[in-house]
Amino acid sequence: EKGNFEHYMLKEIFEQPSTIFDCMRGRLLLEDKKVYLGGIREYIDQLSNAKRIVIIACGTSLHAGMVARYLFEEICRVPVEVEYASEFRYGNPVIRDGDVVIAISQSGETADTLVAIEKAKEMGAIILGVCNVVGSSIPRASHAGVYTHAGAEIGVASTKAFTAQLTVLYLIALQVAKEKGTIDNERFKKLITELDLIPEKVQQILENSYIAQSLASLYMDAKSMIYLGRGYNFPIALEGALKIKEISYIHAEGYPAAEMKHGPIALIDEEMPVVFIATKDHTYEKIVSNIQEVKARKGKVIAVVNEGDDVVKHLADHVMEIPETDPLLTPLLAVIPLQLFAYYTGVLKGCNVDQPRNLAKSVTVE
Ligand code: F6R
Repeated sequence: EKGNFEHYMLKEIFEQPSTIFDCMRGRLLLEDKKVYLGGIREYIDQLSNAKRIVIIACGTSLHAGMVARYLFEEICRVPVEVEYASEFRYGNPVIRDGDVVIAISQSGETADTLVAIEKAKEMGAIILGVCNVVGSSIPRASHAGVYTHAGAEIGVASTKAFTAQLTVLYLIALQVAKEKGTIDNERFKKLITELDLIPEKVQQILENSYIAQSLASLYMDAKSMIYLGRGYNFPIALEGALKIKEISYIHAEGYPAAEMKHGPIALIDEEMPVVFIATKDHTYEKIVSNIQEVKARKGKVIAVVNEGDDVVKHLADHVMEIPETDPLLTPLLAVIPLQLFAYYTGVLKGCNVDQPRNLAKSVTVE
């Protein structure tokens, strides 16, 4: 089943051009300049009129939700809150009439997420599920939803399910933005055109996987790492840090880059690798100065950059390049080198990458 791949995780990372493509099939209608998701057809009005969207999930799925927050706020102009399912479940959350809850889960069986949505439902929210496993508990407990169609994910660490979740969330946001009229036609067209090109750009990144592999051999003995990004790439920093923790057992933390000087900068010395997501967008100059701050303290900088970026290439110790796309879509590309880096680091350290210690694929107990 693993085919030519040594591990399921690697196979699943390499499947992403096709899983992202499959996820958009029949939904992203480039010729008609439309996005159409049959699964939320009956709830598109509620979504478009929602006063607030609350996103509930755990782990990697939560990170997809955090990216979606930036997306919905930017193109749909709706306030979004993202909450850990466990915190929602045991908290005393405020759900108002007209709130829509989006629950994100690969397995569709995560206990905390399931109970959280039952609670939100009792409080009158509309529940939309974004799940991978067809017919699982969360889709059944939801009013409606969209499947990610990424196929079975065997590796315990989520990779292809994450990029499929992001893809679905982009599609939902685009459909809602169009419905609401919060996006102009030019921008909509640009985004769907760029989204359509994502699978081939992911493929290009995968063809350069040897770069992540060689960095893994340089940094496999690190005790700790810091991952930094801003805006919609901040959740990607969290995801990169989570992947390296699970797969290689290296302690890592993700932060919004600007938070560095509020504490984590104290950790930086010549032993500390700092992974930056430094792609071209409105925060680029800020990220460049954060990189300079780390270099001034002799930290080692690994940066995910756009192809042809000379500025960061000169400042950083190493770069992993990704093709350019619309800045809003970069999370779909920026996460790929970080998945590869975690995978190769784990393999070099002799870790069981498909089944990291203490982890279960689906967390059906609390
Ligand atoms: C990390 C990972 C976990 C899951 C989390 C939620 O690689 O796989 O953090 O994302 O346990 O699981 P689902 O998405 O099945 O609800």
